[in-house]
Amino acid sequence: MSGVSLRTQDLHKSFGALHVTQGIDFALPQGARQALIGPNGAGKTTLLNLITGVEQPSAGRILLDERDITGLSEAQRSRAGLARTFQINQLFRALSVFDNVRLAVAERLGIGGSLLKPLGRRADVTDETLALLEKLQLVPDALKPIRELPYGRQRLVEIAIALAQQPRVLLLDEPAAGLPTSEHQLILDVIASLDTRIAVLMIDHDMDLVFRVAERITVLVAGAILTEGTPAEISADSRVRTAYLGADFDA
Ligand SMILES: Nc1ncnc2c1ncn2[C@@H]1O[C@H](COP(=O)(O)OP(=O)(O)OP(=O)(O)O)[C@@H](O)[C@H]1O
Ligand SMILES: [Mg+2]
Repeated sequence: MSGVSLRTQDLHKSFGALHVTQGIDFALPQGARQALIGPNGAGKTTLLNLITGVEQPSAGRILLDERDITGLSEAQRSRAGLARTFQINQLFRALSVFDNVRLAVAERLGIGGSLLKPLGRRADVTDETLALLEKLQLVPDALKPIRELPYGRQRLVEIAIALAQQPRVLLLDEPAAGLPTSEHQLILDVIASLDTRIAVLMIDHDMDLVFRVAERITVLVAGAILTEGTPAEISADSRVRTAYLGADFDA
């Protein structure tokens, strides 16, 4: 074992003439607590889309535990241990919080089936669903349809769904967006509670959150990795300050 959970090799993605991903060689070690930062439009979400199979790369490879997953579908990658949350969420808006999470638990157990088919009263599914809702402090919202939840709390449901997959690699695209700062601690607590073997990569523009979560930070600018380092190295890097953080940034 090399200790690398996720790796991209010379990954490229173009949308027509727009070269959004430009030869990214990226490695996420097993158990990493890593952040991906960079200006709007740098290609952060696109990189997650390529890793998870939402988009197909124009060139390059993606490896999970050193196994080439470039040709796998989104669902296959999810079964192989990749889970992510979306910047724009993809929940079943008419279904309750409880049902959204329960479906994800059932899916992992291979009893997903049709949305129309009741899952019955499987106590294991219900118990696990409730445990996830408790972890994300969603119990008071359990019976509300997703569409009635504030955007920030919808992001918490997405995290619960990602955790329901029991992933080996967890990719979070702006998990705190829309959550009041007072609730950021919840995200930190959830990440801190994860099995230390799970690798976490978090995209966020909230530098306070990023610097509290990440042991390493990768900086993406204009589709390429500008640099990577510890929070101290990144906050002291004049190129990162110029491209993204601003000259006044103080970690
Ligand atoms: N499906 C698509 N078709 C065409 N262009 C796209 C597509 N997806 C992304 N892009 C473009 O690729 C570039 C990178 O977008 P991306 O969403 O990856 O940026 P980002 O770093 O996540 O930005 P933000 O911080 O605003 O979320 C942008 O110019 C965007 O318009
Ligand atoms: Mg994005």
